[in-house]
Order: sequence, then structure tokens, then C-alpha cells
Amino acid sequence: MPALNEVTVNADQLVDRLQRLASISDCPEPPPAVTRVVFSETDIRARQYLSSLYEEAGLSVRVDAIGNTFARWIGSDPAAGAVGTGSHCDAIPHSGMYDGTVGVLGGLEAILALKRAGFQPRRSIEVVMFTSEEPTRFGIGCTGSRVMAGAITTQRLCELVDDEGDNYDTVRLRAGFTGSLESVRLSDDYYHAWVELHIEQGPELEATSTDIGIVTAIAAPSTYTFEVIGQGGHAGAVLMPGRRDALCAAAKVVLAIEYLAKKSASPDLVATVGQLHVHPGAINSIPSQVRFSLDLRDTDVANRDELLSQAIAWAGRIAKQRDVDIRHQCLNSDPPAVSSPEIVEAVEDACESLGVSRQRMISRAYHDSLFMARIAPTGMIFIPCRGGVSHRPDEFSTVEQIAKGVSVLAHTLAKLSGVG
Ligand code: GLV
Ligand code: MN
Ligand code: MN
Repeated sequence: MPALNEVTVNADQLVDRLQRLASISDCPEPPPAVTRVVFSETDIRARQYLSSLYEEAGLSVRVDAIGNTFARWIGSDPAAGAVGTGSHCDAIPHSGMYDGTVGVLGGLEAILALKRAGFQPRRSIEVVMFTSEEPTRFGIGCTGSRVMAGAITTQRLCELVDDEGDNYDTVRLRAGFTGSLESVRLSDDYYHAWVELHIEQGPELEATSTDIGIVTAIAAPSTYTFEVIGQGGHAGAVLMPGRRDALCAAAKVVLAIEYLAKKSASPDLVATVGQLHVHPGAINSIPSQVRFSLDLRDTDVANRDELLSQAIAWAGRIAKQRDVDIRHQCLNSDPPAVSSPEIVEAVEDACESLGVSRQRMISRAYHDSLFMARIAPTGMIFIPCRGGVSHRPDEFSTVEQIAKGVSVLAHTLAKLSGVG
């Protein structure tokens, strides 16, 4: 194992790289506001930037058919299952510069720090940049890791369409990622261990002044699309008693969902309607159709699914009262993931050796690790972020917080890889 004082993280260079990546953005506001949607030209430019860093670091780079990018530091036992780390670089509209990117560029920096310390890995250590952790374009998150873990069929993947009506495969091929999607699936022995570094995206670490969160489980996410079909008409000519306004009915359903989530006995249950499409969308036309999204999560799947049943019952009553049709469709409904005790212990040991404070916690946000846990012993390392803010341009972690996270990651990777 490398001596502790020999593994030094070049945090200033890492933050420079995070800033450079943040500048590759479609957000009209200057960095740190970031928009980087999967398979956009901006996403491709970000990938090129990363690949240039991987090559400079002397890593061996592989890109699979869906665009997941693997950069490998080959160990002395190349046939042994590798130790994987990494995260994503796509960013939802108007978000921040640390979500996902800290895990990718931090994973690279952990490898560089170990190299500088003269460490020789036995198992290869690999940093992965997953395609599309965010659900922005196709409604489902973690498409790269889902396919890698066999958690979605390629047929179902190719049925997903973006707002332009283009399906996943068309967009993937247009972005230059070719080859059989079936080949993306990894074997269950590809990774000996998986560990992802990420900002917490919640307030707990900051509130308790704790350096590191050791994730023990990831909450179960599900997403749905609701469609409300009423009747359109002229905003001046159709009098109020005769209306079947789809937006007014949708508004009732949205408020019912919020009411149900707030009165739930489960403190972990959260429900969010983040997208609303109104047709025809004219100021002087009664909305005839509305489509909205629902994002539902809980650590307990039964609680989460019970809320959905209640929401559907409310939607049925509202549809009847307002003489509209309300349908829903499930986009994904995933079980939670539990971290592997060996990885939790390896992170705990790294924290102990480095003298950093830590606490065990659950992740309320989902991550590619939700799917990696299906094919590898998995764990996650969280660092604090200011005010628990994420998915906003003012998302922020200090250089020191990032450096501690990368140091813990480097030591964890070294331990899991073994000395070559
Ligand atoms: C990931 O971005 C999530 O929505 O949890
Ligand atoms: Mn995110
Ligand atoms: Mn993320």
C-alpha cells in the first residue's frame, strides 16, 4: 500500500479541470451554470476533453456502443476483475458543475495521485464515465449503467424517444456511437469492486460538519408520465360551465400528489412533478391535452408504490368530476440498492487511516451505482456540498472537501486493488 503522506491530491488542478468541463455547456448563463444533455454536441465536446486527459495520463481508453467510456490503469494481474470508479458528466438544464463530474475527474485524480506515489496496482483500476445518468432527454436516467448491468432490454431502450420524436438508437448512432447495444452488458466478474465518489446533494454532512458520507443504500426511484385529455376551444367563446380544461384537471392532480406525499408517514418519501407540456400552448386557447412527469422515491418500495396507487385513485376521481381522461405510464420503477459490506469497510478503513470524519448514510438521489450494485460489490463516497444544494447553478463544494473525497477514494481503490 502507498504510504499515506505519499498520496497527494492535486486539488487545484482538479478544480481547474472541473471548471474547464463546466465551460463546455449549453446553458445561456456563464459557468458554473451547466446544461449538458446526452448525445448533444456539447456532450461530445465534453467527452473529447475527458479523453484527452485520459490519454495524457497514459490510461488505456475504451468506448462502448452506448458511449460509456472506460479509462484503465492496467494492473500487474490484468486478467483479474478490475476495481472500478467513476460517475457521469451529463448535466440537467441549468444545473451545477459538481454533480457527477467530481466522480469522473476525481476518479482520474485518484489514479494520478496513486501513480505519483509510486503505487503499482495488482488489479486494474478503471475510471468510467457513464452515458446519461440524467433522465433529461429520454425520461429515464442511468441508461449507460442500466444496459451495462442488464437492467433494461435493448429493445425497451430503443423505444425511448426524445422531444423531437427521435428514438434512443437514432440519436446514439447520430452521435457516433455504433456497434451492438448487446455488447455493452458487462459480465458479473468484470468488476471485483465498484466505488463511486459523488457530492451528497443533501444537507446532512454539512449540518454535522462531517468530511465523508459512506453510503449504505440508495433509495428506490420511479418515474411516470401522466396524460390528461380534455377538450380545447376558444378562450373567449367557450363559457366556463362547458369547459373540460386539461390543465385545470392536471393542476388538481399535481396538488393531490403533493398533499399525499406530505401527509405520508414515511419521512423518506418524495414526489416531484418537474415537467408539464400543455397543448396547444396558446394564450387564447383552452388546454386540450397536458402531459406531466412524476418522480417518486422512497427507501421503502412499498411506501413508494402505495403513494402511486393513491395518486391514481385521486386522478380517477378528478377525471370523473371534470369530464376528462387521465392515463399514466410507468417509465421506470427500480428497487433500492444496498452497499456491499466489504466496500463500506474499505471506505471506512481509508477514512480511519486518513483521520477524516465520516458517517454512514443513505443516498436519496440515485446514481449509476444503483445499477452497478447488480453486477459488482458496490459502495459510494459522499462529500459535503454547500447547503445541500444540487441540480442548481449554485451547487458548490470546497477544494478541501473535494481533496478529502479524492484522498479517501485513492486509498479505497489501492486497498481494493492490492499491491502489484
Ligand atoms: C440524479 O440525478 C437524481 O435525480 O437522483
Ligand atoms: Mn444529477
Ligand atoms: Mn449525479
